[in-house]
Amino acid sequence: MKSIVLEELRKNKNEYLSGEELSKKLNVSRTSVWKHINKLKKEGYTIDSSTNKGYMLIEAPSTLYPAEIKRLLDTKIIGKEIIFVESVNSTNNYGKKICEKDFIEGTLIITEEQTMGRGRLGRQWASPKGEGIWVSILLKPNMKPEQASQITLLAACAVAKSMRKMLEADALIKWPNDIVISGKKVCGILTEMGAEIDVINYLIIGIGINANMDEKFFIDNDLKTATSIKIEKGSAIDRKALLAEVISNFEVLYLNFLDSHSIEGLLGSYKEISATIGKEVRLIYNKCELMGTAVDINRLGQLVVKLTDGKTISLNSGEVSVRGIYGYI
Ligand code: BTN
Repeated sequence: MKSIVLEELRKNKNEYLSGEELSKKLNVSRTSVWKHINKLKKEGYTIDSSTNKGYMLIEAPSTLYPAEIKRLLDTKIIGKEIIFVESVNSTNNYGKKICEKDFIEGTLIITEEQTMGRGRLGRQWASPKGEGIWVSILLKPNMKPEQASQITLLAACAVAKSMRKMLEADALIKWPNDIVISGKKVCGILTEMGAEIDVINYLIIGIGINANMDEKFFIDNDLKTATSIKIEKGSAIDRKALLAEVISNFEVLYLNFLDSHSIEGLLGSYKEISATIGKEVRLIYNKCELMGTAVDINRLGQLVVKLTDGKTISLNSGEVSVRGIYGYI
């Protein structure tokens, strides 16, 4: 009911809607309308209440509430179901609990703050309140576990495309799934899976976007190779709009992938915005450090590297550093 009240206020943007009109329209008492208005105000909606005129929505909060995101989406499966938690240890952990029961494909877990955000290779992922986009997409694709890493590439492509559309800055993909701007990391993706030998039970795509943190945050947390969109763009980004853009782009790429069972359709654009191809790279491979040049990304999503000794290897994952203006990132 609260979201219906909100929708009615939205339809009447810049105009007052009387309590009586609202209660008639929604077939509830005026006290009930008043209670919902108060709940919305507590959530951060600025609503003007005037004894004679009624209620008028002035401004919605920047919080990533499901109602705020859903109204920006026109997707078929991703984001039809959204679970929002103000604070959580990790949206991927929360997602895992949901996935272990029955879940709706495309469910999003969104939070404002992670207290134990996780990165790849057991690292921490700093996720301060209200300043980033911390989201997990829950999927159950009908495909083999070895194809899961291709979905990660697909997610990276969706994020980079969204940022390129919404920012002046050039967002590039550092293989497999980091997004960098001006050589610094602005987004990371952690894909986790529940699977049997030849079938995926669930896939959790955890996306972390450093949206609106200031430089002080990165200095205080000793994150020298990371940045935020706000720093790069020079002004804060509308997190709701960016999240909706990412989800919409992700769905298009994901549905294509399910149709074709291949990432070939997106490889062209992935490679065009790659921060890795053509660059000197340092690899940690089977615990050995190797040097080479990244020459391609193949149709399995593997990074093809020509090593300094002339051999060519294809990497599934592992740690790859790319040489850039800040050294290896
Ligand atoms: C990395 O680059 O190391 C991956 C970072 C992934 C961070 C996101 S934020 C949402 C989701 N929940 C987590 O705990 N991690 C991912």
